[in-house]
Amino acid sequence: MRLIVPLQGVVQGRGGLILGSLIPCALFYFLQLYLKRNRSPNSQSSPPSRSTSSSTLAEMTRTLSRGSIGPARISSRAISIAKPNDSPYYIGLDKASEDPYDRIGNPHGVIQLGLSENRLCFDLIKKWMLDNLSDSIMRKEGGDLSISGIATYQPIDGTMELKLAMAGFMSRVMGGAVSFEPSQMVLTAGATPAIETLCFCLADHGNAFLVPTPYYPGFDRDVKWRTGVELIPVHCRSTDNFILSITALDQAFNQTRKRGTKIRGILLSNPANPVGNLLSREMLHGLLDFAQEKNLHIISDEIFAGSMYGNEKFVSMAEVLDSENFDKDRVHIIYGLSKDLSLPGFRVGMIYSFNENVLAAARKLTRFSSISAPTQRILVSMLSDTRFTEEYIETNKKRIQNMRDLFVAGLKVLGIRCGESSAGLYCWADMSKLIPSYSEKGELELWDKLLNVAKINITPGSACHCIEPGWFRCCFTTLAQEDIPVVMERIRKVADTHASCS
Ligand SMILES: *[C@@H]1O[C@H](CO)[C@@H](O)[C@H](O)[C@H]1NC(C)=O
Ligand SMILES: *[C@@H]1O[C@H](CO)[C@@H](O)[C@H](O)[C@H]1NC(C)=O
Repeated sequence: MRLIVPLQGVVQGRGGLILGSLIPCALFYFLQLYLKRNRSPNSQSSPPSRSTSSSTLAEMTRTLSRGSIGPARISSRAISIAKPNDSPYYIGLDKASEDPYDRIGNPHGVIQLGLSENRLCFDLIKKWMLDNLSDSIMRKEGGDLSISGIATYQPIDGTMELKLAMAGFMSRVMGGAVSFEPSQMVLTAGATPAIETLCFCLADHGNAFLVPTPYYPGFDRDVKWRTGVELIPVHCRSTDNFILSITALDQAFNQTRKRGTKIRGILLSNPANPVGNLLSREMLHGLLDFAQEKNLHIISDEIFAGSMYGNEKFVSMAEVLDSENFDKDRVHIIYGLSKDLSLPGFRVGMIYSFNENVLAAARKLTRFSSISAPTQRILVSMLSDTRFTEEYIETNKKRIQNMRDLFVAGLKVLGIRCGESSAGLYCWADMSKLIPSYSEKGELELWDKLLNVAKINITPGSACHCIEPGWFRCCFTTLAQEDIPVVMERIRKVADTHASCS
């Protein structure tokens, strides 16, 4: 109602209420005329295709009669986020979820190798849930079912019980080499908000983090969208099996500083996603020295620490800090249960920091991303069940290794080689021999053919900011063993058409 008043105010001064209703009517008439003339070709201004011309008319009439001066505005931040996906990573994920492959139900669907999700141990999780779910949520206290502990507000940064259970689990996952302090933990609804919150706390809008490439494509959203922080790629090369060098880091640091951008830190994933290699103890020392010398923070994303195979040993940043006299205030670790415990649906992530100010701010910020109390309760029981977690961790590692060996062997038969790796739910495959031209364009052409003709979604290296064309991340832990020959057959067909064309 209030929106009508300005128009009436204008009109009343000159001719009263009659004009006040005449003018909108006349405007409406001309609008109809205008729309009639301009109806045929599709209008460019309204992206959602939902509205038909008559409902557009009704909407415009309503808007007009209330005296509005244009379409509803949203923030420019939101407009840039609302745009359709341009990264092949997200386009592929969407395509695969719209038409998902199923051996029996949808054998011609898209096989999802773009999502790092682990389905290899669902049987173990399911069994534990069947045995313990209701007891763990409705924990009996003094013989009564306690509803108050799950129905009421709980600490927003996670219950102390869950932090203690997480500390135990992380230590077990990392082979007992390091212990974690619950008071240095902030729990969040998944690792994604953990990374965002941390970046928000460490850097201001327009500041930057150095990130070794290839890196997880999600970082571009998680870090940049809301914080306005930039990511500067530090390029690693296949000749070094994509291992970071301090020289490359120093070079990127110098160049970025020259441009006038403030660098706040280095964002690492260890074990690395998408390559699956590890940072050595010496490299961790080198990074800590570099960070100290240049006054930088280090974010070490260790979410794949328990998804290891082979004989190499994972070294956590926390372990190196334990043993040496580094400035701990600049070191922060990200962890979560989406990968090592295959529970991305539970949304459990963590910031583990040595910096009191960061912890204090992050705790307050978790009001936007708390974990629900029932979820926390289930996990306290599950993680404290050492018999279960030990069996789970061991079995999971064996099954990942087995799938990896089968998958890599299958690719090898097709002449596709994978980078050396020791961890992760994926392999990093060199398909440069299959790309029509040695360029990003050639790589995307192959990606497109694999997705739309062979119906396989894998993530092209360019989405991970890899500068060498032809590399692809293939996540194999969403597959069953029987699916591997199907995947290989589909890739073979694309490889054959490439061979016959060239
Ligand atoms: C970066 O700049 C520093 C200081 O100017 C210099 O000592 C160093 O050699 C430079 N590093 C590289 C890799 O260019
Ligand atoms: C879960 O159930 C199993 C089988 O009944 C039992 O042995 C185990 O102790 C239970 N775990 C917890 C945390 O209650």
